[in-house]
Amino acid sequence: MRKIKVAALVSGGGTNLQAILDAGARGETPSAEVAVVISDRAGAYALERAREAGVEALYIPFTDLGREAFEERLIRALQERNIEMIVLAGFMRILSPAFTARYADRILNIHPSLIPSFCGEGYYGLRVHRAALDYGVKVTGATVHFVNEVPDGGRIIMQRAVYIEDGDTPETLQKRVMREAEWVIYPLAVEAVAAKMLNEYGEK
Ligand code: GAR
Repeated sequence: MRKIKVAALVSGGGTNLQAILDAGARGETPSAEVAVVISDRAGAYALERAREAGVEALYIPFTDLGREAFEERLIRALQERNIEMIVLAGFMRILSPAFTARYADRILNIHPSLIPSFCGEGYYGLRVHRAALDYGVKVTGATVHFVNEVPDGGRIIMQRAVYIEDGDTPETLQKRVMREAEWVIYPLAVEAVAAKMLNEYGEK
């Protein structure tokens, strides 16, 4: 059966990428296949994870090129590989409105809070969990959403809640949100969107 070809964009450790790759290896994402992993950072461990899984690993520098040139090279790389869906997995750059419009309803992101709380520009990684603890909420979680021109503002695809525990630090909370929410819902969301795309397009 045909699968939707997915590119994962990463900047760091890539544990969400790993969750998606592992789910694929277990046959849990039958509608999607990660065809390439692209990093804006040369040393991203996520590139290593891709190679270990037998997936092409590509580095496109951001800092040297700037956003426009980065996106030009990115689009070329995506087109050359017939990529149909983009998954942001700890990708720490904001994509331009032109890029997000070009791939409308085709870019997924995971954010480590229950959107609309603790999200938007400046909220990433541990900062999100620190903000949740500072505010004193008792429940947080993770959200998979489509990416549009508003940071963390696209349509929500899936969410899962995680309870905050006494004594949580940003680090302990980040780990629990990853384990209980992010690594669970991201593969599910990728499969749900890919299955819907296949359904809409039919077999090519
Ligand atoms: C994840 O917790 C992800 O939700 C978060 O960065 C981490 C990346 O970890 N993303 C954001 O904060 C986006 N605003 P990973 O590289 O191990 O998947």
